[in-house]
Amino acid sequence: MQEKILVLDFGGQYNQLIARRVREHHVYGEIKPYNKISPQQIAREGYRGIILTGGPNSVYEPDAPRCDAALFDLGIPVLGICYGAQLMAYLTGGEIKSAKHASEYGKTALSVRSGPLFAGVPRESVCWMSHTDYIAAVPPGFSVAATTDNCPCAAMADESRRLYGVQFHPEVAHTEYGMTVLHNFIIGICGCRGLWTMEDFITRSVAKYRRELGGKKVLLALSGGVDSSVAAALLARAIGRDLTCVFVDHGLLRKGEGDFVEQTFRDRFGVNFIRVNAQQRFLEKLAGVTEPERKRKIIGEEFIRVFEAEAKKLGRVQVLAQGTIYPDVVESGRGDSATIKSHHNVGGLPAVMDFEQIAEPLADLFKDEVRQVGAQLGLPRALVYRQPFPGPGLAVRVIGEITREKLDLLREADAIFREETEAAGDLPSQYFAVLTDLRSVGVKGDARTYGYTVALRAVTTDDFMTATWTRLPYEVLERASSRITNELGQVTRVVYDITSKPPATVEWE
Ligand code: XMP
Repeated sequence: MQEKILVLDFGGQYNQLIARRVREHHVYGEIKPYNKISPQQIAREGYRGIILTGGPNSVYEPDAPRCDAALFDLGIPVLGICYGAQLMAYLTGGEIKSAKHASEYGKTALSVRSGPLFAGVPRESVCWMSHTDYIAAVPPGFSVAATTDNCPCAAMADESRRLYGVQFHPEVAHTEYGMTVLHNFIIGICGCRGLWTMEDFITRSVAKYRRELGGKKVLLALSGGVDSSVAAALLARAIGRDLTCVFVDHGLLRKGEGDFVEQTFRDRFGVNFIRVNAQQRFLEKLAGVTEPERKRKIIGEEFIRVFEAEAKKLGRVQVLAQGTIYPDVVESGRGDSATIKSHHNVGGLPAVMDFEQIAEPLADLFKDEVRQVGAQLGLPRALVYRQPFPGPGLAVRVIGEITREKLDLLREADAIFREETEAAGDLPSQYFAVLTDLRSVGVKGDARTYGYTVALRAVTTDDFMTATWTRLPYEVLERASSRITNELGQVTRVVYDITSKPPATVEWE
């Protein structure tokens, strides 16, 4: 049976990070909402260990999220983190108090005693704390395993039952020996061997989809983004020509992108590849539209219409394949309590079409794992590591009304900016050009001009929820600006966007 650790979710902000840390040990980490799995199911599923996450509540509040205390009697090792540790203490007979005047936030000096959880951790180190409540008295059978100046129990352990609680956050990078603590739990205490690798994932997935989908007609909407491309490459290996990829070219792609996607899939992966040229259709629908949300809506709907029409031509299609990835699943709250935002892949296709089955081969993977799979399957680097590109494409980067002329101009300006940025190395997280609807006066060859203003945007970020504008070298900006104004006659002015997110968003529309 596959080695896996259950991450029981109590609504903490670092829960996905905990699962990632487990996977960094080559053990499959799976997040489940605290109230969606019973102790019996946990035992049946064969988890090697359980991690209880942090969360915003106080365990003694009447409606605080709690798991079944029988969890602690399964004989499976449990590590409670922050709220998870307090809950473990609370449910097994300890005492929790509110530390109104002694809350700890941020880096805190930690003193540890011995024990398997802290093997290799020095007596004094730094941990990351974020709590108001604390464990005032450990439950029967437990002993205090670490302290801080303000926290009489920064960690507790009942070694005979293999139950552990830490008040600090071992998963965040600020905890100096956090990875050692997690390693001790996952490998040392739970006895995992670390067999979960991307090669293993590919082998298992290929076998599974060959078994489940072989002989059926499978349709995949390929956008050319990382997720749908990797899903296509994986399914191509499993079922080859049973897979048909439909690539809707809406004319809102970057320079050369459509051809690149086509070459990659038609030539290298030998799947059935259909490139639908829908440029005119999208331009007609978008004519005269200036409002950003309206643009998005039109594009989403039109995409579905085009895709549907192609699917009809193929006759009976049994399976729809999608590039859904793990954060989409967790965040959409599929079978989950804490819905953060609802996420639709390619405009909610399954709702409008009639398929027997949906295949989501990447639904268990984080983005960096998806990239690793893509690289191992032989997808080109430029595709696997490509920067994010919004679904509505250049439509949200041409400010105001969209015309073919404006799109062509933006494609060229964007290609120049990307080329100059890439030549300088050290890439921002995302970098692109925007064609504003601002005309400005210029002078070229002694003549007055009145042309477009192009804005350049580059941001640095981990998660795109917040972002800072990238301090690109002046030389890069200088080269991009002079090339854009020289090579593109209609552009008179280039500006650089120096706004972070918040208050701005990454995209202009
Ligand atoms: P914002 O502009 O919201 O962008 O700060 C954050 C990230 O999301 C991308 N983005 C989109 N991606 N459909 C997408 O698939 C969209 O409608 C969309 N809008 C923004 C954006 O490029 C950035 O990476």
